Amino acid sequence: MDAGSLSGQVALVTGSGTGIGAATALALAQRGARVAVHYHQSAAGAQGVVRQIEQQGGRALAVAADLTDESQATNLVHRVVAHFDRLDILVNNAGSPLERSSLEHCPLDLWRRAFDVNVTSAFLVTRAAIPALRAARGRIINNLSLSVQTGGAGGAGPYAAAKGALQVMTRTLARELAPDVRVNAVMPGVIETPHHERFTTPERMAEYRQQTPLGRNGNADEVAQAIAFLASPDSGFVNGALLDINGGRFLR
Ligand SMILES: NC(=O)c1ccc[n+]([C@@H]2O[C@H](COP(=O)([O-])OP(=O)(O)OC[C@H]3O[C@@H](n4cnc5c(N)ncnc54)[C@H](OP(=O)(O)O)[C@@H]3O)[C@@H](O)[C@H]2O)c1
Repeated sequence: MDAGSLSGQVALVTGSGTGIGAATALALAQRGARVAVHYHQSAAGAQGVVRQIEQQGGRALAVAADLTDESQATNLVHRVVAHFDRLDILVNNAGSPLERSSLEHCPLDLWRRAFDVNVTSAFLVTRAAIPALRAARGRIINNLSLSVQTGGAGGAGPYAAAKGALQVMTRTLARELAPDVRVNAVMPGVIETPHHERFTTPERMAEYRQQTPLGRNGNADEVAQAIAFLASPDSGFVNGALLDINGGRFLR
């Protein structure tokens, strides 16, 4: 077995019927993990990811939940643990800007929904998963956003603020759950997924490419490989870290 193998392990990837989550589910399965493919609206996408994993000889389960709902988020974890009998890896990937708004004109309802979808969802799933993760000496990987560093001016303010809260949650959990569970985060820059088909014009995407030292935007698999590294024993001494994946667009 190679050092990065996840053979015998179980992963739950939230929002893995699409985009970065789907690529992450596939990357973890390729390393030998059995994967719970969580989705909310993207049922067909989730079934497609499960089929792909099974065609490659792996095992996967599609599970639906609206993660803004406490009982659905909690039940998701219970169903996964009941099905696979353990949980080693939790990837809190689900998230969305929902709609664009400056903070100046942001309705309270949008602010609250942005926090529900981007950070409270991760809190609810994580809280339910902690007993199983502790038992497995597991790992949590949270998906943040470059906007945590740059701010969300241009309409992503509520989203950026919620992702900032998820960053602090990552750091808190990295200490609270140690030494049983390692907790890290990825901080993607511009990654070409359905997210941008909805929220960014093609012209703006071209500008992002030009502004990035590597001369292009990222793809979902490049984030998935970084998440798989943080999920694997190869990153055994990495805890509380924020891994930039942005082509050099923002340097800390
Ligand atoms: N693309 C980028 O440039 C970029 C950059 C930085 C960070 N990110 C982050 O990466 C993550 C994945 O985004 P993506 O780019 O792959 O875009 P995406 O395809 O739009 O994925 C968003 C995921 O979030 C899930 N989701 C949204 N609301 C939900 C809810 N109420 N309950 C449960 N799941 C919900 C969606 O599930 P359903 O489709 O099943 O409803 C979907 O799978 C997000 O957290 C995003 O903020 C993306």
